[in-house]
Amino acid sequence: MKTLGVLTLLLPAIAICFALSTARAVEAQADKLPEAPGKATVVAVCTSCHGSEVMTDAPRTVAGWVDVMFLMKDFGAMATEAEWKTVTDYVVANLALLEVNKAEAAHMQLVFGLSEAAAKDVIAYRDKQGGFKTIDDLKNAPGVDAAKIDALKERLLFR
Ligand code: HEC
Repeated sequence: MKTLGVLTLLLPAIAICFALSTARAVEAQADKLPEAPGKATVVAVCTSCHGSEVMTDAPRTVAGWVDVMFLMKDFGAMATEAEWKTVTDYVVANLALLEVNKAEAAHMQLVFGLSEAAAKDVIAYRDKQGGFKTIDDLKNAPGVDAAKIDALKERLLFR
């Protein structure tokens, strides 16, 4: 049954893929992917079937991006384990919306550019405070860079 499920996903995916790449050849896409480590891998792994605009058009949470990665695997995207990690880290660090009250240390590390120990300190502080209600609560956490938090404000969710 699993194989059948993958096939029913795969066949339309291949058709869409051809349609998208044709459309792409006609209109050259401006690349809105931020310049950051891992971008070359993202372009190599993720832009053979569609342009990068599907990645930058609509915002997604970290969990949303993890779902996208599973979907793309089902659609036939191919990469080594190391490349999947590079691509996932890139989208979390540079594109994903971060739910600051649910985020795990690894995601805080990537988004805020913290060490593992510093990210764990932020989480310990968050739990002690009963969560971050505003961006200012977050800026009061130990070790975070207030200017960086301001620069990221469009990507932070306090729900
Ligand atoms: C084998 C072809 C293929 C590759 C490679 C591929 N995709 Fe896709 N992707 C698709 C297809 C087909 C769709 C359209 C699905 C749809 O319309 O829902 C899509 C849609 C998307 C979307 C939009 C999803 C949505 O919810 O609307 C995103 C985001 C995306 N891809 C990201 C990626 C990323 C990131 C990679 C690299 C890891 C990647 N894709 C590699 C085939 C591919």
